[in-house]
Amino acid sequence: MGIAKSASATATSSSPVTQSGAAHDTAIDRKVTVYVMGKACEVPATATIMGAIEYAGHQIIRGAGCREGYCGACATIYRAAGDYKIRTGLACTTLVGDGMVLAQIPSVPAEKAIYDIETLRPNVSAIQQTYPVVFRCVACNTCTRSCPQDIRVMDYVQAAKRGDIAAITELSYYCVACGLCMLRCPAEITQPLVATLAKRLYGRHLSKNSPELAVRVRAVAEGSYNAEYVELMALGRESLSDRYYARDSE
Ligand code: SF4
Ligand code: SF4
Ligand code: FES
Repeated sequence: MGIAKSASATATSSSPVTQSGAAHDTAIDRKVTVYVMGKACEVPATATIMGAIEYAGHQIIRGAGCREGYCGACATIYRAAGDYKIRTGLACTTLVGDGMVLAQIPSVPAEKAIYDIETLRPNVSAIQQTYPVVFRCVACNTCTRSCPQDIRVMDYVQAAKRGDIAAITELSYYCVACGLCMLRCPAEITQPLVATLAKRLYGRHLSKNSPELAVRVRAVAEGSYNAEYVELMALGRESLSDRYYARDSE
């Protein structure tokens, strides 16, 4: 996450918690002290790390996307008061605490393998060819402890060593590719890239054909949803958001 000092600070994203009435006012009014770039700042006790940084007057210029814990753009590190450990989390969903020290990670670089999904086989040979570093895993479990999504990261790395593509796909399903696990890995393994490879292999070589999907793709190609697209594109942000949260989802 990259930040810049802003001339006009706002507090618009200071609270991720939906509350109501007097309890809401009390929670908003209560302040805690956090340290942003080493400087003490009073911020609402209900703020997320991202909200607190903005409330303190900084504009986040990169490393923010969905602001709801889905895109993985806002990986961050912090230290809680009286705690020696450097903790990891998503800045948009991790709440602040009194005395917390905040820091930013502009990006989490990783070397991405280039491969042709058509020629790779969905077994251990694909891992050996693309991400052989996986076999250096020392089973320390640091990656699992770092994951804000509570994913059993070490388990999917072990599955990668066995070439069990289906297991990697299943275990890493909720990965948002924030990169925090690879940031902490002593063996320099790029876990989210391995997970992405597995999902591609699974989709290309292992998943069953879906007749329902074929019907839906044909309907899209024939323009059956064009009127709905036009309607959605004309909606304002708030109406779009209302529509999104009111949708039926499985
Ligand atoms: S942090 Fe790295 S070495 Fe440790 S268990 Fe995870 S993948 Fe293996
Ligand atoms: S598995 Fe790694 S990259 Fe994926 S969400 Fe967890 S920490 Fe982030
Ligand atoms: S901004 Fe998307 S996960 Fe935090």
